[in-house]
Amino acid sequence: MADAKTAAERAEVAEQEGVALQRRRRDAQRAARRALSRPRMRDSLGERVEELARLAGTVADLDEPVDIYGGGIVAELEERVAGLLGTEAAAFFPSGTMAQQVALRAWAGRTGNPVVALHPLAHPEVHERDALHTVSGLRTVHPTRAPRLPTAAEVAALEEPFGTLMLELPLRDAGFVLPSWEELVDVVAAARERDAVVHFDGARLWETETHFGKDLREIAALADSVYVSFYKSLEGLGGAVLAGPQQLVDEARAWRHRYGGQIFQQFPTALSALIGLERELPRLPEYVARAREVSAALRRGLERSGVSWYRLHPEVPHTHQFQLWLPYAARELDEAGIAQARERSESLFGAWHDQQVPRLALTEVTVTGAALEWPDEEIEEAVADFVGRLEKGDRAGEGQREEG
Ligand SMILES: Cc1ncc(COP(=O)(O)O)c(C=O)c1O
Repeated sequence: MADAKTAAERAEVAEQEGVALQRRRRDAQRAARRALSRPRMRDSLGERVEELARLAGTVADLDEPVDIYGGGIVAELEERVAGLLGTEAAAFFPSGTMAQQVALRAWAGRTGNPVVALHPLAHPEVHERDALHTVSGLRTVHPTRAPRLPTAAEVAALEEPFGTLMLELPLRDAGFVLPSWEELVDVVAAARERDAVVHFDGARLWETETHFGKDLREIAALADSVYVSFYKSLEGLGGAVLAGPQQLVDEARAWRHRYGGQIFQQFPTALSALIGLERELPRLPEYVARAREVSAALRRGLERSGVSWYRLHPEVPHTHQFQLWLPYAARELDEAGIAQARERSESLFGAWHDQQVPRLALTEVTVTGAALEWPDEEIEEAVADFVGRLEKGDRAGEGQREEG
């Protein structure tokens, strides 16, 4: 018992330190004059409320009644997304976790097969506490373990029959990677050859147009159903949509109710989604183009910095997000970033995450509007300065302690 208590106490201290670090990082990043992105999740409550109140009237008639269990502004959002994706219908969900469970169990019923083929790094496999199995009675199989989308040959070679192939586009945990358009067309055809339907996890589908060289309707037309998110690249408050054929969407509405997703009023989330579609969606191609330049500037700066090893992945970003790996502990990298933001008013990276081996960490770099105002040479210079701070930290000995 005494040991257990000590472990619990240690866990509590670690959690408090984590929260304190998060807060210091957020405050430093918010105050920085230069940044690669300024995610709204760093806003204060007041800022978010003020922005919603200021912009709501630009996307909706505010004299209309509020939504009650769907309808109104929620129905407008559903129609808007169905139009953008070119699907017959769409249903709003409080979360992607719920939307995809509903889609996959509806397809399991229709195909008569509860097996879902997906990547082991796909969101439901890594981040949803085994929801597909424990809540929705589905079973998963993996066409590949390679850190990229499965190929047509891998899908064709799956030993067991499967009802649905689910493709996460882009595959976030593999570095926001996408297949080529031809590979995507082929893998979808391979699934159909196996009598399976195809569902896209399109949480970040919005930013794939540049890489595929196709518009959203052409991309979505490949799949039988698509889920999209409003709070990632679109910076909304939350929420998701499941888009597809009318019959599937009607069934999804019934399951949504059973899963507890029939929410009384959702107008703040729906308004924030419409604002995202209006303001962020048209800018994403510009962010993707800028991400390619930023990645190249980071590479030049890292080369110049003399760091012993680094990896920018993928080599050329497929979207406006990509990974940077460095051979240091996440804690050291976070502290270097906080110091740089405070001293030079420059913020390159968000949180760092330790990886499988000691002193190896990665960060997910996001490039949005703020990066358009930060010249390449200064970014190059900033990353060299960032690495210089780590080298100094090394000489001074292991990491600093959390204050407060
Ligand atoms: C690729 C992907 N799929 C699904 C989800 C689940 O979305 P939600 O958080 O709305 O449940 C996420 C959320 O991060 C995601 O990144």
